[in-house]
Amino acid sequence: MKRYIGYPRSSGTASRQAHADLPPGTFEREMSKEGFFGPAAFFHHRHPPTGWVRFEGPLRPHAFDLARLVEPVASPWQAAAVLDNAHCRLRWLRLERPMDHLARNADGDELVFVHAGEAELYCDFGHLTLRAGDYLVLPRGTLWRLEVSAPLLALLIEATNASYQLPEKGLVGNHAIFDPAMLDVPAVDEAFLAQQERGPPGGGAEWPVVIKRREALSTAVFPFNPLDAIGWHGDLAPCRINVKDLRPLMSHRYHLPPSAHTTFVAPRFVVCTFVPRPFETDPGALKVPFFHNNDDYDEVIFYHAGDFFSRDNIHPGMLSYHPAGFTHGPHPKALSRMLVQTKPATDEYAVMIDTRDALEVGAAAAAVEWSGYVDSWRGAR
Ligand SMILES: [Fe+2]
Repeated sequence: MKRYIGYPRSSGTASRQAHADLPPGTFEREMSKEGFFGPAAFFHHRHPPTGWVRFEGPLRPHAFDLARLVEPVASPWQAAAVLDNAHCRLRWLRLERPMDHLARNADGDELVFVHAGEAELYCDFGHLTLRAGDYLVLPRGTLWRLEVSAPLLALLIEATNASYQLPEKGLVGNHAIFDPAMLDVPAVDEAFLAQQERGPPGGGAEWPVVIKRREALSTAVFPFNPLDAIGWHGDLAPCRINVKDLRPLMSHRYHLPPSAHTTFVAPRFVVCTFVPRPFETDPGALKVPFFHNNDDYDEVIFYHAGDFFSRDNIHPGMLSYHPAGFTHGPHPKALSRMLVQTKPATDEYAVMIDTRDALEVGAAAAAVEWSGYVDSWRGAR
């Protein structure tokens, strides 16, 4: 039997509710356990908690411009290393030609987020067309390949040695955020049956299957197309949902924490999605993300489309990485709209990955790092 030491207390001049009716002229910072679910304290600071003038040492916020990784690859197993730890591996895939082999990830489930382009997915379960904004969960072991019709840019998020699941929806019920009926699965359709007779692009009848296990690649070659099932049944399959089909939670009187936007969960990380939503309207409610440390998680955000309302100098295709222990919050321009927004709604699509374990920066990401990111909070006084 165990539980956190916790009981609400207050000292000095403080608001009574989180994210609302702050003492005039103060900036709120949240310090919390378990992301935004555990015990938490809310401080009312005289200065923005990101008002440093110097930042030295290995701990620092990062931003990477993945759109600058312009070299195409021929296989998901050649995708550029972005960030990884023992439980989560992020890669950046730029695929411009149809794959000439099948891929199987034996290390874990793969979540593909399509940033741009279009491709036909052929896999054990059939055929599905992928477009920008699609999330695709590929269960571990699935054989798959992509026929690209418009150059594909995608973030690959591996749940190493684990499975993706849907979050517990709690009070709002199973049909909130998205109805599970919106999850599409591949179909054994005419296009799928027709490809069973074809060899790989480039000629020949032999199909290589490239299997990744413990980050090492092995190839099994078949004299026929192994995607030859004429049907299947069961309750395990890849699934797809597009960000445009998400219906976000919001409150006009309370700035919801990012966890309200959780889309998929794995044992040691979560994937959340920010999609357009109205701003809070209550005069006392915060209209921007609160400053916080998120001390139990490393935080990653991939910027997919739109205007990123809490960040300056960030464009689609960029990815920010805020390691635990570093306080962050709105950039100076956004902070000026802390209590009054000029627009009625946000206009951003972004994918957030919060990991319980520290991430390492991959070589490809390091090559496209914006080193000035740590200074981008300058001017917040
Ligand atoms: Fe954060």
